[in-house]
Amino acid sequence: MSQPPRIAKLPVTHMVVAALAFVVGLPAAMAADEDDPHALHEQNCTQCHGTEVYTRTDRRIQSLAGLETQVETCNTNLNTGLFPEQVKAIATMLNDEYYQFSD
Ligand code: HEC
Repeated sequence: MSQPPRIAKLPVTHMVVAALAFVVGLPAAMAADEDDPHALHEQNCTQCHGTEVYTRTDRRIQSLAGLETQVETCNTNLNTGLFPEQVKAIATMLNDEYYQFSD
């Protein structure tokens, strides 16, 4: 009797385990991203422009209120339906890291 090709089965098992880990891990990752302004920005805001628009010398935004309005405008253009608190979290993150307005 010849040996069954046991070795050939190993990669398939690994793929199933990897696929399961991916499926199980995904909701947790998404839940975490919803609260992380960096992840939200990465996912939603980098298709049209990078962070260079926040630091260019002729940038248009001149106040924190203006920044929040702009993020909301971009969010509306984007039509992803970010929640207001997510928009606010992104605006706060951008202010902390790039604009640094005090009001
Ligand atoms: C549909 C394309 C698009 C997407 C997606 C987009 N933006 Fe924009 N954004 C623009 C355009 C166009 C401008 C104007 C660029 C200019 O004035 O040269 C802009 C400008 C800005 C500015 C002002 C930069 C300045 O001059 O000070 C901010 C802040 C900004 N976007 C934030 C965001 C954020 C945050 C997101 C994600 C929620 C986002 N954008 C997603 C198109 C987009």
